[in-house]
Amino acid sequence: IEHFLGGGDAELNGFPHYMLKEIYEQPETLANAMRGRLDDSDSTAHFGGLNLTSQQLRQIDRVIMTACGTSYHAGMVGEYLFEELARIPVEVEYASELRYRNPPIDRSTVMFAITQSGETADTLAALRESKRMGHTTLAICNTVGSSIAREADGGVYLHAGPEIGVASTKAFTSQSCVLTMLALYLGRTRHLSSVQGQAIIDNLRQLPEKVRQTLGCHERVKGIAAKYAHVRNVLYLGRQYLYPAALEGALKLKEISYIHAEGYPAAEMKHGPIALVDADTPSVFLVPRGSVFDKVMSNMQEIKARGGPVIAVCSPDDEEVASIADDIIPIPDVPEYLQPIIAAIPLQLLAYEIALLRGCDVDKPRNLAKSVTVE
Ligand code: AGP
Repeated sequence: IEHFLGGGDAELNGFPHYMLKEIYEQPETLANAMRGRLDDSDSTAHFGGLNLTSQQLRQIDRVIMTACGTSYHAGMVGEYLFEELARIPVEVEYASELRYRNPPIDRSTVMFAITQSGETADTLAALRESKRMGHTTLAICNTVGSSIAREADGGVYLHAGPEIGVASTKAFTSQSCVLTMLALYLGRTRHLSSVQGQAIIDNLRQLPEKVRQTLGCHERVKGIAAKYAHVRNVLYLGRQYLYPAALEGALKLKEISYIHAEGYPAAEMKHGPIALVDADTPSVFLVPRGSVFDKVMSNMQEIKARGGPVIAVCSPDDEEVASIADDIIPIPDVPEYLQPIIAAIPLQLLAYEIALLRGCDVDKPRNLAKSVTVE
């Protein structure tokens, strides 16, 4: 942050744009999301406002997450988290679709509405429809006192502070962090042992520092942005927890740089998108070490074999990735369930730097509003 303290608009704290300020705030906003919520004595998490008894929580046997845009991508991260850590089946639905569907929901299903602003019209309508049917509806929300925060039966605030840049950054990482804590909490009422719970807490505690280290990739990302700022299409590819991160990276690039970008589960590109690959279509691979590393590497080789440039977000000192990729962005190692948070940082910075080079208004991209209050 010190680099940017150069006077100007007080609210910008010396940063040239809100988006960059909010990217750099993430070590702090993540610490705020966790403050007072991690409990070492029971190796779990606690939330003040869920308004559910432990018996009600124990009875949840299905979760529906609903949201739009970036918040929807956080919901997808939540799907992997809840299924792995709490063994609860999850469906993630675009709020704009859910509000007009009539899915069978029983009493042991809980609906989470995920929203930064708490005012998104489709998410609010989906929440109201779910409440009308008598379902328990919880909000994961940043804006205190917003419509969704008020109308939900309970919920968890992000405490990320106001997000001004139209491109959501710190809200995504805080939503993913809150969902990790919720998965820990629900997991601890089920099969997760105290040792497993404590390991998750220890890893969460290290997260703000890991994000701080990750921000150190900024200069490298600037160089990569200069190399690719002219392209017309970019693919973002990742698997498992990093599939939603790939979708989010692509959304960031398209909304602020107006470059066409698509995120896919890496192996899915063989079923169509690989036809797009040529020397002018770079692919951003999310390939840190983990359970699907070898699988993603072979997807990466398939792209290279077709002449597509590869930018790889990878583990530190990964010679194997470096020998194939055209450019690498090393990120600190974290458990797989925290990788979406860490991987989001270079993707936010890449979108930001490319948009700047293209002369775009990063804080107020064309055709977009910060909160979409119309259907
Ligand atoms: C994110 O960068 C977008 N501007 C947009 O997709 C946003 O996440 C979406 O409109 C949902 O907003 P909310 O979280 O305030 O409900």
